[in-house]
Amino acid sequence: IPVEPFDLVLFGATGDLARRKILPGLFHRFAVGQMPGSARIIGSARSEMSAEAFRADVARAIREVAPDTPEREETLAAFLERLDYVAIDVGGEAGWSDLTRCLRNDVVRAFYLSVAPSLFAGIARQLDAHGLATRDSRIVVEKPFGRNLDTARDLNAGLRASFAEHQIYRIDHYLGKETVQNLMALRFANSLFEPLWNATHIDHVQITVAESLGIEGREAYYDRAGAMRDMVQNHLMQLLCLTAMEPPAKFTPNSVRDEKVKVIEALDPVPPEDIARGQYAAKAGGDGYLDHVGNPDSRTESFVAMKVHVANWRWAGTPFYLRTGKRLRARESEIAVFFRDPPHTIFPGTGPLKGNVLAIRLQPDEGIRLQTTIKDPGPGGFRLAGVSLDMSFADALGEEAQAPDAYERLLMDVIRGDQTLFMRGDEVEAAWAWIDPIIARFDDSRDRPAPYDQGSSGPEEALMLMHRDHRRWRQIGG
Ligand code: BG6
Repeated sequence: IPVEPFDLVLFGATGDLARRKILPGLFHRFAVGQMPGSARIIGSARSEMSAEAFRADVARAIREVAPDTPEREETLAAFLERLDYVAIDVGGEAGWSDLTRCLRNDVVRAFYLSVAPSLFAGIARQLDAHGLATRDSRIVVEKPFGRNLDTARDLNAGLRASFAEHQIYRIDHYLGKETVQNLMALRFANSLFEPLWNATHIDHVQITVAESLGIEGREAYYDRAGAMRDMVQNHLMQLLCLTAMEPPAKFTPNSVRDEKVKVIEALDPVPPEDIARGQYAAKAGGDGYLDHVGNPDSRTESFVAMKVHVANWRWAGTPFYLRTGKRLRARESEIAVFFRDPPHTIFPGTGPLKGNVLAIRLQPDEGIRLQTTIKDPGPGGFRLAGVSLDMSFADALGEEAQAPDAYERLLMDVIRGDQTLFMRGDEVEAAWAWIDPIIARFDDSRDRPAPYDQGSSGPEEALMLMHRDHRRWRQIGG
């Protein structure tokens, strides 16, 4: 179903994210007929450029990522007609009235700020000053949304000076991933899991976002951020919230986000012994984290593992273990829910029974796997064996499982005016309020993150974090 007609203004239209994700995402939505014929995308950046030159650049960007199908060129030509370009120096006065003239009054208006966060407030102010921050307009911003609570508050204040909260769309692209949304469907559209979804039945939860790539091309940004800011404060926090939250009464933006905020506010402070930090080590020829950032003294972590307690009735006594890192054995993300072991066995000699594990795979090969125990077939003794009920969404749903990129979903939600999959201002602030003291402790301590081998599962310290609790991480790339 096509969304309403819109004018989307893309600030930072010649930047990396715009070329790699946003414009190809819009192209794909156009190709499947979700973008109405009258929709327009107005690219904006500082450099003077004709609309023709912008279109040619966008065509190049799209050809790099969109599959070369027989229809591609024809669709691309039609898509390019929807594009325009206005040069604006967002720090100055030039270009704003050109933009004002170019926009229509009777369609949805969205301003996508694919620019550095330091420019958010200034752009919002200019849009307002030029009468463009109308009630129905939307403003979309990207991470990093601050680097601590104070800067996040400043960004919120800067945006809210010109736009109301219901107009502000803070993107966390993990919320656009199909399986992340599926977590809500799994929990709240099935009767099987929810009655067991608590500390009485669940021993612990492991949330892993492992990456095989390093920090190529983003060294300067990453070295100032580290895994806590780059991944935990946003993506892992979202996964934790969706796993731990109470069922919202309705599937509406504020019902869902209210419940997520409650989870963040229930998080206990994390003591130092419950965190392990790592940094990928050099191989024989160098190529380690310190080589990449060109700073032998960097104490930034490229890996972090931690034990987290959600201190409420549902979760008291059930820890959540989070881990994420670069240059690990595989690109693999999952949420694994470990149910408690059966309390008693009637099968003597088979050893203690194992609890079931429900693993929700986010990437690659999205799907759900439930580890169960069955009888080992055969006429011999009564032996038990572990098997998995394994559902790959691609196998189960075929074509339909061709999940659109996270950005496509989120872009269309902006036009539809649905904020469910976007972070609310208080949610972002609550996440920083919890993370800040942890990072402050890293900064104060002289400890270096533990080196770990590239292609491994992270440092020994992360394994110890689990062993201490008589538990084990699931294998990455197993
Ligand atoms: C980004 C981080 O937000 O998410 C990157 O800045 C990270 O460091 C990326 O690689 C991971 O996203 P995905 O979709 O590849 O899992």
